[in-house]
Amino acid sequence: MAVIPVQLAGRSYNVLVEHGLRDDVANVASAFLRKDIVPIVADANAKAHHGERLEAALAAAGRKAAWFEVASGEASKSWQGLQELTDWLLAQGVERGDHVFALGGGVVGDLTGFACAILKRGCGFVQIPTTLLAQVDSGVGGKTAINTAAGKNLIGAFHQPALVLIDPATLDTLPDREMRAGYAEVIKYGILGDREFFDWLAENGQKVVARDPDALVHAISTSVAAKARIVAEDERETSGARALLNLGHTFGHALEAETGFSDKLLHGEGVALGMVLAARYSARRGLVSDEDAALVARAIAASGLPSEISQLGLDCDGRKLADHMLHDKKMESGTLPFILLRSIGAAYLAKDVALDDVASFLDEQLQ
Ligand code: GLY
Repeated sequence: MAVIPVQLAGRSYNVLVEHGLRDDVANVASAFLRKDIVPIVADANAKAHHGERLEAALAAAGRKAAWFEVASGEASKSWQGLQELTDWLLAQGVERGDHVFALGGGVVGDLTGFACAILKRGCGFVQIPTTLLAQVDSGVGGKTAINTAAGKNLIGAFHQPALVLIDPATLDTLPDREMRAGYAEVIKYGILGDREFFDWLAENGQKVVARDPDALVHAISTSVAAKARIVAEDERETSGARALLNLGHTFGHALEAETGFSDKLLHGEGVALGMVLAARYSARRGLVSDEDAALVARAIAASGLPSEISQLGLDCDGRKLADHMLHDKKMESGTLPFILLRSIGAAYLAKDVALDDVASFLDEQLQ
């Protein structure tokens, strides 16, 4: 079993990665099972696929699950969803020293984490992420939030889980498109900070997307270790280190906004395209070679992810895409920080990017 510590003063925790871990949950999470009834917040699909096995694992240790089901999709991360969940947790008698389990993707993890951050001024929670995206990104690091009419993740808290259990076998039932979208966040770690990992993924990425067990464990463990290092260095995104995780997200956000945050472009697909654009824009500024930018695009395309914005069939110009960026929540005093590349494996936070220049670059890309 891979055990990856996230080291934070007074709030350190482990991320465990192993095939079949869901069947061993009562054992590996025993320290967080204080009572006979275990409150589990679950995405409806995740419960359908993994609920029975989780119940059986808990029953073997004399525990019983109490389920709160969350409808799949971002709409569940709402004030109403939060109210229903916190009311349910209170009705379950959850106390500060208890731990609530979150089974599912980023929606369930973010909603449950935020509910636990505010329930009785903070109770514990255990993440069992069941999408690749949540396993390598949102399930680790303690960002929790809901959405409001003003935008995504604008109301939230930093609240670290007490334990993260990653069972790559839970990905067997994940649709291929979501698997590829999660892979975008895997290759991101290579592009932003680990050339060796990028090269390994350029060779083995298709195995990861095809769920080869060894390739998957290596990809997940390496990604989580990278995230753990970054979170330990900059938990609250104040020094710039954690901001590097936003590589591809500013360009990606503009594309997601232009496609109406719809199924036309999943978040991970937007990030994949965004990383290609960030690499090409870095090349345009003379920071990396055209060959490196092409390598990034090829590695992304090889996994089956979109790598050219022409694939989206957009009816807009670069200015319109750049204007979407003005609503990005990373805007700070009127400027928008961009994550650019000095080389593959060396990203940095650039604060000198003019949106006019980005708009004319995007015009070229849209040709
Ligand atoms: N998903 C970006 C972060 O955790 O900071």
